[in-house]
Amino acid sequence: MPLIDGKTGIVFGVANKRSIAWAIAQAWAREGAKLAFTYQGERLKENVAELAGTFGTDTLILPCDVTRDEEIAAVFKTVEERFGKLNLLLHSIAFAPKDALEGEFVNTSREAFRVAHDVSAYSLVALARAAAPLMTDGGSIVAMSYYGAEKVVPHYNVMGVAKAALEASTRYLAYDLGPKKIRVNCISAGPVNTLAARGIAGFTEMLKHYEAHAPLKRNILPEELGATGLFLASDGAAAITGQVVYVDSGYQIMGM
Ligand SMILES: NC(=O)c1ccc[n+]([C@@H]2O[C@H](COP(=O)([O-])OP(=O)(O)OC[C@H]3O[C@@H](n4cnc5c(N)ncnc54)[C@H](O)[C@@H]3O)[C@@H](O)[C@H]2O)c1
Repeated sequence: MPLIDGKTGIVFGVANKRSIAWAIAQAWAREGAKLAFTYQGERLKENVAELAGTFGTDTLILPCDVTRDEEIAAVFKTVEERFGKLNLLLHSIAFAPKDALEGEFVNTSREAFRVAHDVSAYSLVALARAAAPLMTDGGSIVAMSYYGAEKVVPHYNVMGVAKAALEASTRYLAYDLGPKKIRVNCISAGPVNTLAARGIAGFTEMLKHYEAHAPLKRNILPEELGATGLFLASDGAAAITGQVVYVDSGYQIMGM
């Protein structure tokens, strides 16, 4: 019996087949969920349509730049019309201006700080608020984080500060939405070679560092993120909310 049969979900953050959102979407779809996808701007529409199309030509695909309230409202209006209710939401979105991910954190401009927090953290609050009225049977909201939220990772800079805001938002959302049986959790992933990751200076070094220092002595696989995303969506995680779950080969436990 599929683990999340009959559930409906919406996936934010597929850019291409390497996207973490795609790994989690595949696991959700395999276990019976009916999914809608969003894409950020026309540039990515074709990619997302091609990938989402593998689940059927009638798969719902909608534009959504999460900095635009009107696009968020339009997405959830259409989802309500097509699905009626919603069970799952994946937030797999982050952005910071490139120069803010290269030099020193102390030089972060006001504008780079604002953009990074708007796209990477506030958007979770906006999406959760819009999704909650559709999660009438309860729901599971999953967001993607990284260890730079809690420790200094050179070059991760303002994105680490935005991830700290994302993780704290997860806890406050979990408290607010808990009475509605809506769970909100983060997966903190070890480095994965994606479009967003390649924007971080020294990313290749990061992969080597994890391989050398993580207890499991290897990097993680996208399908392992899919499996954890599936667990958090399933009844197996029915009493888990407000948490950060590490899928990082154990790197987070190390002190040296
Ligand atoms: N790759 C890693 O090593 C790693 C590790 C830990 C956490 N993460 C997190 O995983 C998530 C997904 O990243 P990824 O590595 O799969 O890269 P990715 O580039 O495939 O995905 C990032 C997504 O964010 C979307 N996005 C950016 N700005 C947006 C906006 N204004 N509106 C809507 N969408 C927007 C992009 O379109 C893209 O789909 C991010 O939150 C990232 O920080 C990644």
